[in-house]
This record gives sequence, structure tokens and C-alpha cells, in this order.
Amino acid sequence: MTGNPIHLRASEGGAAAVPTLYEEIGGMPAFDKLAAAFYEGVRQDPLMWRMYPQDDLDGATWRLGHFLAQYFGGPSEYSAERGHPRLRMRHNGFHINPEAREHWLRHMHAAMDQLDLSPIHRQQMADYFDRAATAMVNTFEPSPGAEADS
Ligand code: HEM
Repeated sequence: MTGNPIHLRASEGGAAAVPTLYEEIGGMPAFDKLAAAFYEGVRQDPLMWRMYPQDDLDGATWRLGHFLAQYFGGPSEYSAERGHPRLRMRHNGFHINPEAREHWLRHMHAAMDQLDLSPIHRQQMADYFDRAATAMVNTFEPSPGAEADS
């Protein structure tokens, strides 16, 4: 579900033989901007922010931006640094219920609003985020500490 789509490459780890979404939306600067905008929203959202490594926001931004860049056909720097994504497993330690999924998606949609995406690119990205976020749900228990937010 969260595995990479197939990208035909000129050589192993080389340039993609056909343009990828990564290139079409502006390469690494676009994904850096997406991840930074996503975390801007997350920081202002207590339900989300308490889950994240507050002292390593730069690291988290790098991981998300480079994972997504790689997923959409960019260079494989994420895997070089972090190994196989195994995203669902990496999320096991976080309390991800449907409410957290909705929050995550809301912030990612707001982040996509910051990019000048064509409707087809936006749809492709939104479809992937919707499926991936569903795959990350690992509990139906209410969010811990949620009563403090209201
Ligand atoms: C559904 C709600 C989600 C929640 C609440 C959530 C929460 C988190 C948290 C708390 C982290 C740790 C931050 C860090 O240290 O990097 C994280 C990491 C990460 N998340 Fe999510 N996440 C969600 C969905 C997703 C989705 C849908 C994707 C991809 C499309 C994703 C991609 C990542 C990546 C790439 C990392 C870094 C993994 C690593 O290398 O350690 N997350 N997530």
C-alpha cells in the first residue's frame, strides 16, 4: 500500500526515463516546501503536535519531504538515510485513530494548497495520501489527552 509506484529509470538509482510527478511539480524544492508547510500546521495542532519530536522538527521535515520525493519518483535519499520505509511499522508507536488521520490529511491538504499544483497532480497526491493515511490507522481508542484540547 505504501510501496513505491514503478518508475522506469535510465540506470539503477539514475534519472527517471519518463517524467515523474516529482519532476513535474518542481523537484526537491517543491517537496521541501510541502513538508515545511505540513509541519507549520501540525505545530499549531495540539492533538498532532504532542506526538511529534518537538526538538527535531528539522529532522522530521527532512524525513517526510524526502520520503514523499522518493515515493513520487525522485532520488532515493530517504532510503539511503533511513533504510526501507516500512511506514506502517514505523507508525506503530504513535496513537493513530481516525481523528488523527483526519487531522493529518487536513494539514497535508493545506500544505498542498501552498504548491501551485495542476488538478491532475493534486488528485494523484491526494489519492495516495488518503490511502496511506488509512493504512496508518492503528487504533480506534480516543486520543490520549484530547480532553485538554477542548
Ligand atoms: C494518519 C496520520 C499520521 C500520523 C498521526 C503520523 C504521525 C507521525 C509521527 C508522529 C511521526 C514521527 C516524526 C518523525 O520523527 O519523523 C511520523 C513519521 C513519519 N511519517 Fe507519519 N503520520 C501519519 C500518516 C502518515 C502518512 C499518510 C505518511 C505518508 C504518506 C507518513 C509519512 C511519515 C514518514 C515518512 C515519517 C518518517 C519515518 C522515519 O523515517 O522515521 N505519515 N508520522
